[in-house]
Amino acid sequence: MRRTYRGDGIEVSFDRELCTHVAACLLGLPAVFDIDRRPWIAPNAAAPDEIARTIERCPSGALQYRRLDGGPEERGPEPPDVTPIRNGPLRVRGRVEGRRAGGGGEALPRASLCRCGASENKPFCDNSHLRIGFRAPGELIHIEVSPVRPAPDRPITKEADPRP
Ligand code: FES
Repeated sequence: MRRTYRGDGIEVSFDRELCTHVAACLLGLPAVFDIDRRPWIAPNAAAPDEIARTIERCPSGALQYRRLDGGPEERGPEPPDVTPIRNGPLRVRGRVEGRRAGGGGEALPRASLCRCGASENKPFCDNSHLRIGFRAPGELIHIEVSPVRPAPDRPITKEADPRP
């Protein structure tokens, strides 16, 4: 379920079900994104431009924004581009319509799509590729240790994620 956090200049939304725990937000802008604070997103704690730039680095589309200050909305590449991540998902940059197997869907500005076949949230990656030891060629990405990733190959579970 997507939750919304409204600031003066920008509105941020987050869907925990889509998060792949790369922590681009927590590591990129800790004044705004703090897993130990409630609410965990403080959209007035940085300039809207800075928040927008950080959110655009979220590969899953779990984080999105809407400008309230007249600033530019996110514009991904058109048509979208798709990159296979080594031993992981397909990273999509650009607008994608995601329709879940159980019904429901959402237009996302970015997405990480499962290519290992094991996700329980298809078509989205839910990090099951780590559990099954999926191996496939692709772009290497560096994932840092963070509050949601105690080891690079060990993200916390959705159940253990304290964010609403
Ligand atoms: S690629 Fe991540 S769950 Fe399948």
